[in-house]
Amino acid sequence: MPPSRVEYGYAAMSRLIVVSNRVSAPKDPAAGSAGGLAMALSAALRKYDGLWFGWSGETVEKFTGELKIEDRAGVTVALVDLEAQDVDEYYNGYANKTLWPLLHHRTDLAAYERSYGEGYERTNARFADVLAPLIQPDDIIWIHDYHMLPMARDLRRRGVKNRIGFFLHTPWPVRQLLVTLPHHRRLVESMFDYDLIGFHTREWLDLFRDYVASEPSVNGKLLPNDALEAFGRTVQTGVFPIGIDVDGFLEARNSVFGRRTYDRMAASAAFRSMMVGVDRLDYSKGLEERLLGYEQFLTDNPDKRGEVFLLQVTPISRDDVDTYQDIRVRLDALAGRINGEFADMDWQPIRYLNRTYRRDQLAGIYRAARVGLVTPLRDGMNLVAKEYVAAQNPDDPGVLVLSRFAGAAEQMGEALLVNPFSREELSDAIKRALEMPLAERKRKWESLMTVVRETDVSIWRDDFVSTLRAIERPSNGDANAAARAA
Ligand code: G6P
Repeated sequence: MPPSRVEYGYAAMSRLIVVSNRVSAPKDPAAGSAGGLAMALSAALRKYDGLWFGWSGETVEKFTGELKIEDRAGVTVALVDLEAQDVDEYYNGYANKTLWPLLHHRTDLAAYERSYGEGYERTNARFADVLAPLIQPDDIIWIHDYHMLPMARDLRRRGVKNRIGFFLHTPWPVRQLLVTLPHHRRLVESMFDYDLIGFHTREWLDLFRDYVASEPSVNGKLLPNDALEAFGRTVQTGVFPIGIDVDGFLEARNSVFGRRTYDRMAASAAFRSMMVGVDRLDYSKGLEERLLGYEQFLTDNPDKRGEVFLLQVTPISRDDVDTYQDIRVRLDALAGRINGEFADMDWQPIRYLNRTYRRDQLAGIYRAARVGLVTPLRDGMNLVAKEYVAAQNPDDPGVLVLSRFAGAAEQMGEALLVNPFSREELSDAIKRALEMPLAERKRKWESLMTVVRETDVSIWRDDFVSTLRAIERPSNGDANAAARAA
C-alpha cells in the first residue's frame, strides 16, 4: 500500500489547485518532451495532493461543463471541453488577437472586437462554474497567464473565499498602450480579487504598478512592500523570476538520446560553427529581425560565409490567427531569399525547421551550438536562454546572444545583450560571439550558469506558493465582496 500523506508529513498542507488554459502535465515524464514548467507544477501537485484544471484542447458542439478527470503520472488533471465559438472568441480572439499583442507592446497587431471580450468573459465564467464546486475550504488556488485574468473575480462571485494567486507569464505593457484596450479598467479591477499577483521581472511589475497609480480612472495607491490599493481593495504583488528544471535538464542533456543528438549535430555541422534559435512561430520572438541581422552579418563578413550556419527551430503556433499566418509566410520567404542569395553547392546559411523536438534532443542541439540566438522583441522571461546555458560544455561553452527586451536580460546581464531591432547590432554581436576567446566564454558561462541555478523552477514555484500561503485570509475575499456590494 502506498504511504499516506500523513506518513509523508504533508498532513497540515492544504491542497494546491493549478489553473491554466493549457494543461501540460506530462502523461509520461520519462518521455523527455515536457518543459520545466510542466515538470515543476506536476511535482508540486504530487507533493500537495492537488489538481490541475483547464481546457482539454477539444471542441464540442454544446458546452456541458462535464469534467474529464485523468491521472497523469500521479497528477490529477481535470479538463473541460469548449464550444467552437468559445475557442474562436476566447482563445483565438481575446487571448491571442487582443491581449497577447497588447501585452507584448504590439498595439499595431491587436484586434479589439466586442465579441472577443464577451467570449472571454463567458468562457472564464464557464471555467469558474465548473471549477468552483471542486474547491475545498483549505485549498490554495494558483491561476496562470493572460487567458484567465478575471478568474479570481469569477470564483469570488461563486463564493470562493480561498487564497487565490495569479502569475503572468508574459510582459505587462506600458500604461499608454494598455489604455488602448477598451475596458482596461474593468480588466485590472478584476485582478484585485487575487491575493497575490506575480510577474517575472521588476520591469513588468513596475509597469503594472504605474498603471494602477497613474491611470486617472483608477487612482490607486502604492503601499509598502509592493502591495497596491485600488477599487476599495488591496492586493499583494511581487517579482518571481521563473527558471528551468536544472537537474532535469542536465539529466536530459546527459541521456543517451541527448548525447546521440549532440553527436549527430556535431557531425552534421562538419567543422562549421552552428548557431541555434528555438522559438514558437510568433511575431514577438523577433524572428524576421534575427534573420535580417544574420543576413547583415553575412554581408558584412564575406570571409565568414561557409564557416557558419543558423539552425532555426520554429514550431508552428496559433495558426488559426491571421497575424501568425502572415508572419509564417514572411519567414518562409525571408529564409528562402537569404538561402537563395548566399548558399553554395555545399553550404546553406539557414536550416529553417517548422517542427518540435523533445527536451533531450534540444539539449543535445544546444550543446552543439557555438552561439545561442535568443532575440525576442519582447518576452516575459524566455527559458530557451536558460536552457541554452545549462546545455553547454563547461570546458568549451558557447555564447548566448540575448535580447535586452527579454525578461531574462534582467538577470542574465553577462550574455551579449543586443537590441534586436538593429540589424547592425545583431550582426556585430554574432561576430563577437563567434570570435570570443575561450577564457571569456568560460567566465561568462560560469556567471550565467550561477543565475540559471539560482533561479531554478522549483525555487520560483516554492517562493510563489509560500508567499501566497503566508497571506492572511480573509484579506480580500470578504473585504472585496463588501466593496462589490457597496
Ligand atoms: C506562452 C504563454 C503560454 C502558452 C504558450 C503556448 O508561453 O505564456 O500560456 O501556453 O505560449 O501557446 P499556446 O497558445 O499554444 O498555448
